[in-house]
Amino acid sequence: MNYLKPATKSKRNDNDTYHFSIGEIKNFYSLRSLKVKPDDFHYQPVRGSPKLLSQILKLKDVRNNISENQICLTVGAKQGIAIAFDLLKNTVTTVIIPNPGWPPYKMLATTNNLSIVFYDPAHATEIPSIVRNHPNSLLILNYPHNPTGSVINKDQLSKIVDACILNNSWILSDEVYVCLEPNHPSIIDFLAKYPRLIVVDSMSKSFAAAGLRLGYVFAPVDTINNFLDKIGISVSGTSSLSQSIAQNILSEPSLQKKIVRRVFNDRTRLADIITNAGYEIKSQGGPYLWVQGGPELYFHSKTILGLPGSVFGNPNFSRFCASSNPVGLCELEQYYRLKVSQ
Ligand SMILES: Cc1ncc(COP(=O)(O)O)c(C=O)c1O
Repeated sequence: MNYLKPATKSKRNDNDTYHFSIGEIKNFYSLRSLKVKPDDFHYQPVRGSPKLLSQILKLKDVRNNISENQICLTVGAKQGIAIAFDLLKNTVTTVIIPNPGWPPYKMLATTNNLSIVFYDPAHATEIPSIVRNHPNSLLILNYPHNPTGSVINKDQLSKIVDACILNNSWILSDEVYVCLEPNHPSIIDFLAKYPRLIVVDSMSKSFAAAGLRLGYVFAPVDTINNFLDKIGISVSGTSSLSQSIAQNILSEPSLQKKIVRRVFNDRTRLADIITNAGYEIKSQGGPYLWVQGGPELYFHSKTILGLPGSVFGNPNFSRFCASSNPVGLCELEQYYRLKVSQ
């Protein structure tokens, strides 16, 4: 009967108290494989350990066109995003953000006194005309998208960059889910072409390691230097222990493939369960499924989380996150079966 318990975290959302850092792939590492050394207790440069920075450039396959002074580490992608808003708050007056979307974008726009224009992430082709109507703005991109799983192609990205160039707009691209979608384009390839571009990414989703709090920012040298000033004067850089563990993780060649496969398999299985129970999936990508329906869908166990779409700006949908545990998937199947037979 445990299965029929509603998601307590979802209920809290009625009171506007969100815990929106969830959506992680859990329990991927054994502690033994994440060795640390005495040196890992020392400070690292504010930008991050040179070895780790070079591993990240290799991972992103940009070693030939991006140098190590166009990257720095942050305390998760979230700190990178917050610093970007802080750096640009006196340069732009308007932020163009996805709706539905990850709540911190809107909160950062509001706390930085910026006006907000929304776009539908499922309609990336409409973004260039929105940019044309709001020149000198900051455009937030987040593909693959949380919560809808929407993706974008290279041609659409290219048209968006062109519109931003012509209209003097900045782009902040939050790519924390890119590594989970094989062949998904990254806007990082446009860095050489456009100086008003900031790309954030992290180990949180791509390496199932949100607890490391390790993010990375790619941007032109001047912008990265501004990031370093903000980081140096506040946190002095990211945790050296986390950086050391990240180096171990990135040294293991097949790990990324394993994580991608696991997320994809779990998402496929989750999609089957949801569809067989008679619900419609509007879109899916990365770890997420965006499902038509409200409270009757909510369910969470230790491994699967259904969250009301109202958290993200659309109460008619729910977001499901596949996070790799067959027990959780069985529980969800059972939950729907019991509901139908009631
Ligand atoms: C779209 C999006 N961006 C950024 C983040 C934060 O990532 P990090 O853990 O690297 O700060 C999340 C986490 O949920 C997210 O969904």
